[in-house]
Amino acid sequence: MEGESRSVSKKLATVMTASLLANIFLGMFVFYQNNLINVHNARNDQQTIALQTSQATIVSLEADLANVKNDLEDLLEEYEEELERNEEFEDQIMDLAGSLDEFERLQDIDEELLFKYSKVSFLNENYVPSRLKKIDNKYVLQGKGDQYFHGDAMRFLERMFDAARRDDIDLKIISAYRSFDEQNELKGQFTQVYGSGANAFSADQGFSEHQLATTIDLTTPAVGGTYQSFGETEAFAWLEENAHKYGFILSYPKGNQFYIYEPWHWRFVGRDLARDLDRDDDLTFYTMDQREINKYLLEIFD
Ligand code: DAL
Ligand code: ZN
Repeated sequence: MEGESRSVSKKLATVMTASLLANIFLGMFVFYQNNLINVHNARNDQQTIALQTSQATIVSLEADLANVKNDLEDLLEEYEEELERNEEFEDQIMDLAGSLDEFERLQDIDEELLFKYSKVSFLNENYVPSRLKKIDNKYVLQGKGDQYFHGDAMRFLERMFDAARRDDIDLKIISAYRSFDEQNELKGQFTQVYGSGANAFSADQGFSEHQLATTIDLTTPAVGGTYQSFGETEAFAWLEENAHKYGFILSYPKGNQFYIYEPWHWRFVGRDLARDLDRDDDLTFYTMDQREINKYLLEIFD
């Protein structure tokens, strides 16, 4: 009995000890688990804080980026405005340079070249064209000696003669540049022969387009002079058709208010003006407004 009771006590003690140990282990396990959970939670908290901090940083960076973007856009806008101002300024400079260039070119061109003479404008005895050049003798009617033309217009004259030649038209020059004194002498001779009748076909000194050196009297060897019969020739018909392409116009057509019909007398006024006059049947050099004519001066030798 006693032995049984000891054995039970021992078992009890063993069970109690085991239970105690189990509780201790359980307690330790729970403690450990809680610790683990705490650590885990703490880590989670840290991560959440880190995440929140990162998010805040991202928001702040995004705001910075937006600001930088705005600044850049402003700068770009300013840059474009500046660029536009520069371009405008450049255009103004170019315009100014262009005007200056035009002004300088105009300084080199005698405004008289597009004035109306024939009793309208006057060239004094000192007016001599800026560039006189001898005309190649092959274009001059035999016996008419050396003839001179404006150096800047010479190439137009030569082209016209060469083009006529290619079309079998034999143009010849009777008279080209005449100085104030030469015109005076010529008019004197005509007056001696024809009296005041000379005024119908010969300009007084200072009023002749020939003093400009841009005017020529033309004929053919067959006609041989400044006769109105030149107006009936193929050569004249060719001139009527083509002279404007080389800048020449007929100064005194039929019915003009200054002189008799002079089919031989052709004046260089530049290709643009000659073309425009050719296109308009109602317009002639002498009925055109002088201010309109002057607009062609800059391009007279183009
Ligand atoms: N024959 C023209 C009008 C002149 O003498 O100029
Ligand atoms: Zn003439």
